Amino acid sequence: MTLPLDNIVYPGSEQYSHAELRAPGTVPVDLGEAPLARAIDTAYIRFAVPDLEKQRAFLEDFGMRVAQDTGSALYMRGYGSAPYIYVVQQADRPRFLGAGFVVAQKQDLDRVAAATGARIEDVDGPGGGRRVRLSDPDGFAVDLVWGRQAVERLPTRRERLPVNLPQDKPRVNTPQRPPLEASAVERFGHYVLMVSDFDASWQWYRKHLGVLPSDVQCTGSGRPVLAFCRLDLGARPADHHSVVLAQGLHATYMHSAYETLDLDAIGQGQQYLKQRGWRHFWGIGRHILGSQLFDYWLDPHGFEVEHYADGDVFDNTRPTQYHLMDRGGLWAWGDDVPAGMVAKPTLAEIARLLFGGATWRQKMLEIKQAMDRAPRPWLK
Ligand SMILES: [Fe+2]
Repeated sequence: MTLPLDNIVYPGSEQYSHAELRAPGTVPVDLGEAPLARAIDTAYIRFAVPDLEKQRAFLEDFGMRVAQDTGSALYMRGYGSAPYIYVVQQADRPRFLGAGFVVAQKQDLDRVAAATGARIEDVDGPGGGRRVRLSDPDGFAVDLVWGRQAVERLPTRRERLPVNLPQDKPRVNTPQRPPLEASAVERFGHYVLMVSDFDASWQWYRKHLGVLPSDVQCTGSGRPVLAFCRLDLGARPADHHSVVLAQGLHATYMHSAYETLDLDAIGQGQQYLKQRGWRHFWGIGRHILGSQLFDYWLDPHGFEVEHYADGDVFDNTRPTQYHLMDRGGLWAWGDDVPAGMVAKPTLAEIARLLFGGATWRQKMLEIKQAMDRAPRPWLK
């Protein structure tokens, strides 16, 4: 079943014609056959960088803690129960390597190993477990992990700070003073990939992780080009997205996001990161699709990372919603989106646009038209 636009309103959304708003959903994404495996949680994300010490300093200020330091790799944990959520290893140049997902059962690993020929091996780092290592259509690693040992949570300010509303003021004789400290990261929430062939990537992630499309963005012709994919936990609610696939001119890592407590944790975390001299990128604001409160940073090697809180969770009864792709729909309120959010094409990519196949060219032109629309009436 496809549904039309889900009543999204922001400054600039009134520019769309009725016909444009009707196009999304005319081409549904294909759920295909039964998936080989079902992912039930994120496990970790992996990077390689030249300067491990600098990366460690940033990650600690960002709100993670060292779980293990081997000298050539750092295993970072959050304050939640995962043994680690972020791995960074020493290398000559910065690279995104891939991510891991926890699968529901050991049999998921067996099925995927039998179908792909990949072998089942031990997971590196603390927590143990077994995994199968796969490559997605663009060569990004995707590990399916099972049997990791949970660890004790670390203490944080876990209580929500009571909020006084005009007609409801529960906080009496108690000031609102959240501590100035790193925004304690609870867990690795999601990551966003630009992919070279959206349809191929969507089908791959559906088949190997069993993901569901929460929200899908389409070009003006109704062509799906971006999917917010959530894990299928059945009747249990899952994050609005754990992985996002977006058609681009080339495959690349866009950002990864880490859940923290609330708006005050994000705000004081921002103060802390600024005080420590790190590079801010975008925020604080609230997203539309997924609803997260967000704040984006650049790590010392230029990778975008996001603090978020208060994101949507959907169970498996929530149908897929289809929307027009644009930049304006990225945020409900907050700082204007930075120009660097959309990458400029390289000469090689322009050549491919000019001399590539007609279908490819048409798709990329439709995306360009969508992303060229001013995200707010006062921005270009
Ligand atoms: Fe995000």
